[in-house]
Amino acid sequence: QRKHKVTVVGSGNWGSTIAKVVGENTLEHPDLFERDVQMWVFEEDVELDKKSKHYNESSELSQGKQKLTKVINTHHENVKYLPGIALPHNVIANPDLIDSVKNSSILIFNLPHQFILNLCKQMRGHILPFARGISCIKGVNVEESAISLFSETIGQELGIYCGALSGANIASEVALEKFSETTVAYDPPPMDSQAPTPATSQGPSPASSHVDLTKLGHKDVTGKLSKVKLKPVPSEYRAIDHDIMKKLFHRRYFHVRVVSDVAGVSLGGALKNVVAVAAGWVDGLGWGDNAKAAIMRVGLLEMRDFGNRFFPNTIQPDTFTVESAGVADLITSCSGGRNFRCAKMSIQEGKSIEEIEERELNGQKLQGAMTAGEVNKFLRYKGLQKDFPLLSAVYDILQGKEKAENLPDLIEPEDE
Ligand code: NAD
Ligand code: 13P
Repeated sequence: QRKHKVTVVGSGNWGSTIAKVVGENTLEHPDLFERDVQMWVFEEDVELDKKSKHYNESSELSQGKQKLTKVINTHHENVKYLPGIALPHNVIANPDLIDSVKNSSILIFNLPHQFILNLCKQMRGHILPFARGISCIKGVNVEESAISLFSETIGQELGIYCGALSGANIASEVALEKFSETTVAYDPPPMDSQAPTPATSQGPSPASSHVDLTKLGHKDVTGKLSKVKLKPVPSEYRAIDHDIMKKLFHRRYFHVRVVSDVAGVSLGGALKNVVAVAAGWVDGLGWGDNAKAAIMRVGLLEMRDFGNRFFPNTIQPDTFTVESAGVADLITSCSGGRNFRCAKMSIQEGKSIEEIEERELNGQKLQGAMTAGEVNKFLRYKGLQKDFPLLSAVYDILQGKEKAENLPDLIEPEDE
């Protein structure tokens, strides 16, 4: 059987960490995966810090600005976005998007959500038609009147099936191999097991006619994928199923539970970033742990309600309380995540969250403020802002229309 080639699209703080995890697993399962993992890097120039262990006065790579991909492939470390962490040597940094995804049957999307659509457009027509994806992106895609998950958007843009990975996973901790759990949501249509072997791995497969996923019992989240002509994975490859997902992501320090609720897993990751901003504010105001717990409780209920209302056909409400992608991610993000930390500093210093992001994160991107705006746009269109008082309050505070000090009033339920 043919081995799966894996590409990680993205190489930020989490992208590089996931490339490390996956690189370790492709080495461990040579029967299933090709050894080398491609990691697409948004190329930029970096200068090695004189304190870096890789700095060497006589080396060319220590002289002024150098390409990040060259530094990663020489020193096996993403010195800008994941400094101090050794990447496996089989993780190959590649600045050429099209080349990095060529012939890969498993594509892992891991970058700040604002960049993904543009990348998908560039990738279209250049990937294996039967590839399968996993989105590690924490965000939602809002188009005025409609909301969709990035797994769906990617699936639709590229004509492939895409699941999601999300959990209580602060990247720096996972990279240091401190124990954590994650949730992989993967619910591909059952046609994968019935595919005949195509003549070549590239080009259309003989069984590529339109498949009505709903008739196959597949839980299509918002119906987007029903419009896509999905290609089955050829039988010369191992089926891309829950078992292979577990083998690709599970480590002793990174426990994976594979489930089918793509909507619940994706929404948990997106909406907790908004709640974490509020948690940062109340902590920054010095209101203590009770206040933060109250924000988290209200946030969790709004996350669950959001899923029930807008993804009613597929959501499993338990995902928010049972899986790492729900309550556990909320707790970790409201304790030590970047959104939490930057929101806390912003209120302590009286500066905007963007100013703090620019100063503190060295190019890493916050997702909470942007997601608050996107979610608000959708709720406003639906006339439902009042039904999500915390999510709406975060937006109003970011806009300067309200003050974080008023959060207790803003989230107080109206009398029945
Ligand atoms: P990051 O915050 O480190 O973002 C920076 C990345 O964006 C870099 O790789 C940079 O090269 C890239 N970039 C900058 N401009 C770009 C452009 N114009 N086009 C394409 N790429 C560009 O990213 P991250 O932490 O890897 O986050 C990726 C996703 O993972 C996000 O959705 C985030 O919410 C989620 N996530 C992050 C963590 C974490 O702890 N960092 C944990 C779990 C999930
Ligand atoms: P931040 O982006 O706020 O750091 O959150 C990281 C995360 O998603 C932890 O699970």
